[in-house]
Amino acid sequence: MSTWANLGLQDSASPLMEQLIFFHDHALLILVMITILVGYLMFMLFFNNYVNRFLLHGQLIEMIWTILPAIILLFIALPSLRLLYLLDEINEPSVTLKSIGHQWYWSYEYSDFNNIEFDSYMIPTNELATDGFRLLDVDNRIILPMNSQIRILVTAADVIHSWTIPALGVKVDGTPGRLNQTNFFINRPGLFYGQCSEICGANHSFMPIVIES
Ligand code: CUA
Repeated sequence: MSTWANLGLQDSASPLMEQLIFFHDHALLILVMITILVGYLMFMLFFNNYVNRFLLHGQLIEMIWTILPAIILLFIALPSLRLLYLLDEINEPSVTLKSIGHQWYWSYEYSDFNNIEFDSYMIPTNELATDGFRLLDVDNRIILPMNSQIRILVTAADVIHSWTIPALGVKVDGTPGRLNQTNFFINRPGLFYGQCSEICGANHSFMPIVIES
């Protein structure tokens, strides 16, 4: 989970999140290189004394600074597209969890495993155990196996919610009247915390998600 002064992404707990972190670092590196180059050029312009009264066009340089950024964009677009399609790939899930967003709590159904159904509410601060995490712990956690493909079906009963768990690289909107699908593979044991990330009303901040694996 995220703690104080943690500005980057959380440590991944799934192969897809690992790939997302690699892509983030890759894109950031390109961004930093462009920012430094453009920043340097703009800064050096302040100290330019040369004037060329006959300079009206430059075919070659125009060609270079049009094609070069296009090629750089390809280096971001192609890995991005690869990831996008990889995220939606479903391969033989062994468990399916259905999560339904309500104002303001999540409820869960294990439709193909003993038909378990339960609600998951945030634990209020005044009822929190001394080792509990404020605004993040819930009364009933989701229990899921590690090292297995897990399918998640997300929907909502009232307004749009979003089932989001950063460590697993999952963020799916729950929309009334629709059933969205995603999948993940947890590759280490632990507790994974998430929060709703659609602005869904007064208590939007108070409907966290906890997975115990
Ligand atoms: Cu549910 Cu925000």
